[in-house]
Amino acid sequence: MNSAPDAIRSRVLTALAGVTDPEIRKPITDLDMVSGVTVSDTGRVSVGIRLTIAGCPAAARIESDVLAAAESVSGPGRASVEVAVMTREQRTALTEKLRGGQAERSVQFGPESLTRVYAITSGKGGVGKSTVTANLAVALAGEGLRVGIVDADVHGFSIPGLLGLVHDGLAVKPTQVGDMILPPIAHNVKVISIGMFIDDASAAVAWRGPMLHRTIKQFLTDVYFGDLDVLLLDLPPGTGDVAITVGQLLPHAEVIVVTTPQAAAADVAERSGIVARQTGQSVYGVIENMSAMVQPDGSLLELFGSGGGTEVARRLSAGQTAPVPVLAQVPLSLALRTGGDAGLPVVLGAPDDPSARAILALAHTMKTRTRSLAGLSLKLTPR
Ligand SMILES: Nc1ncnc2c1ncn2[C@@H]1O[C@H](COP(=O)(O)OP(=O)(O)O)[C@@H](O)[C@H]1O
Ligand SMILES: [Mg+2]
Repeated sequence: MNSAPDAIRSRVLTALAGVTDPEIRKPITDLDMVSGVTVSDTGRVSVGIRLTIAGCPAAARIESDVLAAAESVSGPGRASVEVAVMTREQRTALTEKLRGGQAERSVQFGPESLTRVYAITSGKGGVGKSTVTANLAVALAGEGLRVGIVDADVHGFSIPGLLGLVHDGLAVKPTQVGDMILPPIAHNVKVISIGMFIDDASAAVAWRGPMLHRTIKQFLTDVYFGDLDVLLLDLPPGTGDVAITVGQLLPHAEVIVVTTPQAAAADVAERSGIVARQTGQSVYGVIENMSAMVQPDGSLLELFGSGGGTEVARRLSAGQTAPVPVLAQVPLSLALRTGGDAGLPVVLGAPDDPSARAILALAHTMKTRTRSLAGLSLKLTPR
């Protein structure tokens, strides 16, 4: 069969619809990134594409994917790609389109959204809140959910490192398209962190309330997460400005309290749950981390005592219609710690480790809690 140029052209367009922008995770044909497809009388194909910004990190990948798509129709060596960059107007049109036609920026993940939002909090630092957050996010992504993390721990941001989003000691920088920020993706999780906006890794962040509030708000308005099933927020320990800001911006978020088995830590852990309730959030449950570890000889190592998770859950249940559960007990684990240091979460690197199993089991339970998308027509194509 002799293919007329028009027929070839439409087959090329169909093939191009299979090319996605790796950062935005949508077909380039939906992003107005294809400026034209021409087919010569001899069947040679030329595709024009325009990238969101010059030097965009995904450029090489998009260009080779486009070439492969065109050649799948034209045959090898019979296609070429012309690369250009969007004008400012085109970029603005794209960011508006991604926001669902709203020129006005607003906080994503409000009560009307289908995203389950969990704020991970703890009474004090060092209890493994970030380690648990990073692993839970990756485990949820492994369940097939679309997952994002907002690392809101200004003073102790560690999510980029835990997920391997670090080069030369600095967190990778997000790509910016106009006033839209594209979150870097690690292990299928979209991540934004205050650490990505700081140039000196050793510099202390001495921000005060209003600045923190603006930054968190900007993360929730200007970062393009797309449609998410789950958003996890890694909050700073305690009950400070950030917890209150998050409570104001996302009052329907559910709180997960991370604590150790130490009974002495129960007071401060309980308080972080109570403050969340004061802003209207509900407490989903408690994760006890650094729980007893089974040693090679079969004996139990209870480095941080026992009972802390149950105690915090019991206290937070007081006066509630439904009791607050202990969601998981994550044992002390060398693999969990070294995985975090290496940027490869234990749920991927050593999924049979008892710590990984505890987190994977929780993710499996949480999967069934996602708000259902069935029967709804979404404006945006799922990734
Ligand atoms: N279950 C665990 N077993 C062993 N080490 C852990 C465990 N959970 C966390 N850690 C380690 O404890 C330290 C503090 O954890 P981190 O997640 O940074 O705590 P937080 O975010 O609460 O400050 C890290 O070095 C981490 O690797
Ligand atoms: Mg932390």
